[in-house]
Amino acid sequence: MNAPRPVSVPAPLGLLAELTHRCPLKCPYCSNPMELDRRSVELDTETWKRVFTEAAALGVLHTHLSGGEPTARRDIVELTRHCAEVGIYSNLITSGVGVSQDLLTKLVDAGLDHVQLSIQGADAAVNDHVAGYRGAYEKKREVGRWVVDAGLPLTLNAVIHRGNIHQVGDLVDLAVAMGAKRLEVAHTQYYGWAYANRAALMPAKPEVDRAIALVEAARTRLEGTLVIDMVIPDYYAKYPKACSGGWGRRSINVAPSGKALPCHAAETIPHLEFWNVREHSLRDIWLHSPAFTAYRGTDWMPDLCRTCERAEIDWGGCRCQALALAGDAAATDPACHKSPLHHKIVALAEAEAVTATPPPYQYREMTTRAREPAQ
Ligand code: SF4
Ligand code: FES
Repeated sequence: MNAPRPVSVPAPLGLLAELTHRCPLKCPYCSNPMELDRRSVELDTETWKRVFTEAAALGVLHTHLSGGEPTARRDIVELTRHCAEVGIYSNLITSGVGVSQDLLTKLVDAGLDHVQLSIQGADAAVNDHVAGYRGAYEKKREVGRWVVDAGLPLTLNAVIHRGNIHQVGDLVDLAVAMGAKRLEVAHTQYYGWAYANRAALMPAKPEVDRAIALVEAARTRLEGTLVIDMVIPDYYAKYPKACSGGWGRRSINVAPSGKALPCHAAETIPHLEFWNVREHSLRDIWLHSPAFTAYRGTDWMPDLCRTCERAEIDWGGCRCQALALAGDAAATDPACHKSPLHHKIVALAEAEAVTATPPPYQYREMTTRAREPAQ
C-alpha cells in the first residue's frame, strides 16, 4: 500500500454564492437541496459583503451569484457592485425569469462581468414543461438579447436528460442564434432532486452516445464562434469526474443561510458538521472546518483509490454520489469502472432509461418531501 500523501491546502479559486433558494422555476433536476432554505433564514446584505471581501482576501478569483434565482434578492445590484470593488469576477447564474432590462442595466453599471442563462429546452414546449413555468422560454430569449446588446459575454447552460436529449443539436443552433459565446451541455448529475427524479430523467446509452458525437462535430464546425463544454453522465462514464475540482480544493459554496459547503450536495452526508459564515471567517472554514477537511486530499480514500494512478486526478470522484449509491461517502464512487458496484448502477440506469413511459416529474418546490428513486 502507498504511504498517505501529505495534505496541501491550495487557495480556493471560486465561490458559489447561493444568495437565495427562492426561484420561479421548478426544474426537476435542481441542484439545490431538497430541504430548501426559506427567505427568513437568508444572510443579510452586510454579511454577504463581508463574505465576498473575505473571499477576495483568501484568493478567490470569481464568484457565481447563484440561487435559486439570485435576482430575487433586492440587494443583487449592491452585492454585484461589492464584488467588483473587492476585485472578484462576477458571474450571474440566472433563469432569466424576473430579470427586467432596467435591472440588467443596473447590474452592468455595477460591474457585472458575465451572465450564465439556463435553458431547459430548444423550444417553448419542452423548455416550459421542464421548467414548470409557462412563458419561460420567450422570457429567456428576451433576456439573452439584452445581455448580448449590453456587451456582456453570455453562456447558455442546458442540463440534459431524457426529456430534452433529442434537442442537443437544436440547443447548439439556439446558442449560436442567441449570440452566446459558450454553451454548457451538462448531463444531469443525480443528487438531490435529480436523484429523486432519476427514473424520469435518465436517458438511454445510445441517446447519450449520439449527443456526445453531435457535440464533438459541432465543436469542430463552430470553432472560433461557440465554445461547447460537455459534462457526460456519470452512470455511463468509465471514470468519475473530479467533483467540484476535488473536495475542499477549488471552491466553496455558501448556502442562503450561511452554511459553508464543500459542494452543493454536501448536506446529504449526514455526519458532516458545517460551519456558518455568521460565526466563522471564510479562511477559518476553508482551512479548519470539519466538513472541508473530511475528504480533502487522499488520506481518507479506500485502498482502491489511494493506490490508483488517478487518485490526484479525479480525487476519488463524488462523495455525495458514493453515499447515495454505495451507502458510504468514503467509498469509491460507483461511477468508476473499478468500483465493485459499477456494473449495478449501469444496469440500473439502463433499466430506467428504457421504460416506455417515464414517471411524471417531482417538481422542485419549497414544501415537497423527497421521494426515493425506484430501485
Ligand atoms: Fe478515481 Fe478511485 Fe476510480 Fe481510481 S479507483 S479512477 S481514484 S475513483
Ligand atoms: Fe458532493 Fe460531488 S456533489 S462531492
